[in-house]
Amino acid sequence: MIIGNNIIMKLMEDKDIQYKVKWVNDEEIRDVLISDFISESQTRQWLSKNAHNNTRRDFFIFLKEDEKPIGFSSLKNIDYINSKAEMTLCIGDKEVRGRGLAKEARGLMLDYAFLELGLNKLYTHNWVKNKPIINLNQKMGFKIEGTLRQNKFFKGEFRDFVVMGLLKSEWVEQKIPK
Ligand SMILES: CC(C)(COP(=O)(O)OP(=O)(O)OC[C@H]1O[C@@H](n2cnc3c(N)ncnc32)[C@H](O)[C@@H]1OP(=O)(O)O)[C@@H](O)C(=O)NCCC(=O)NCCS
Repeated sequence: MIIGNNIIMKLMEDKDIQYKVKWVNDEEIRDVLISDFISESQTRQWLSKNAHNNTRRDFFIFLKEDEKPIGFSSLKNIDYINSKAEMTLCIGDKEVRGRGLAKEARGLMLDYAFLELGLNKLYTHNWVKNKPIINLNQKMGFKIEGTLRQNKFFKGEFRDFVVMGLLKSEWVEQKIPK
């Protein structure tokens, strides 16, 4: 379990599936995650297949005060040879957005990935029009590394993706009080 000031994060369990399915199937969220509709049975199969997959860590995010589920965040494609992984994050409960909880979740995941797993680089691939996540990443020190042009075909259009990356040295440097 990862404990923050306002949130806690635990590896995803069966009981969390209903929330993930509800959030991912929300049209506005599906649009930025670029996801197909998902079902509970399909997500259950995916979770049991991936629970012990060493190339990913799938966390659920809860409010610390009452353990209400509010979102999820993953490390994917963990590459131990090149010491890097991809990050994803979703605050599915829209009522708690705008309170700095995504920032806290991203900070906790960065500490976990860099300081506990010892990875050297984290990166994200996001639709160029997803300004909230691009702004959040920039705030956390991620740099834009390039554009994957016409990377995915979704809702009748090819969508460009922005690649952003953060190095362990850059994260550690930011954490040193100035
Ligand atoms: C992106 C997301 C995680 C932000 O969640 P949140 O809880 O509202 O974010 P926070 O309150 O922690 O805000 C942190 C920073 O994100 C940026 N941000 C958040 N919402 C924003 C918005 N609507 N417009 C522009 N920037 C925004 C800002 O830089 C903000 O910092 P600031 O408040 O100091 O300006 C949330 O909108 C979300 O889950 N979106 C759907 C999923 C998604 O797009 N995930 C990315 C693909 S993996």
